[in-house]
Amino acid sequence: MSDLYRFGISLDRELIEAFDRHIKAQGYQSRSEALRDLIREELLRKTRMEGGLVAGAIVMTYDHHKRELVNRLIDIQHDFHDLIISTQHVHLDHENCLEVVAVKGNAPEIEKLSSALKVLVGVKHLDLSLSSAD
Ligand code: NI
Repeated sequence: MSDLYRFGISLDRELIEAFDRHIKAQGYQSRSEALRDLIREELLRKTRMEGGLVAGAIVMTYDHHKRELVNRLIDIQHDFHDLIISTQHVHLDHENCLEVVAVKGNAPEIEKLSSALKVLVGVKHLDLSLSSAD
């Protein structure tokens, strides 16, 4: 278990009241937990900007009836095979597919993969969610 470090911070009343309303609406039990998440998010943002190691998922839906789309999706995933841990495919209905691509690697490369998939005609929605990999 890691050591806990306690510190005090000074904030304007207006700012802390707005923060408390915000974290209460989100369901946080304490300011500490909300601050931990904010700090983690900021550190992850820095990791992404500096091209560090991240892990996450690309979630996308697409119309598999679009000509050539499925082949393009597979070709692109093979081009980036070193970043892809696994792919889960779900047939949502007669025409729509959901794919969840688990990824791990350096942030700019993963963003390149995500963009290459997102711009294809027939991809209806794509979301990239990343976490720190360490
Ligand atoms: Ni399908």
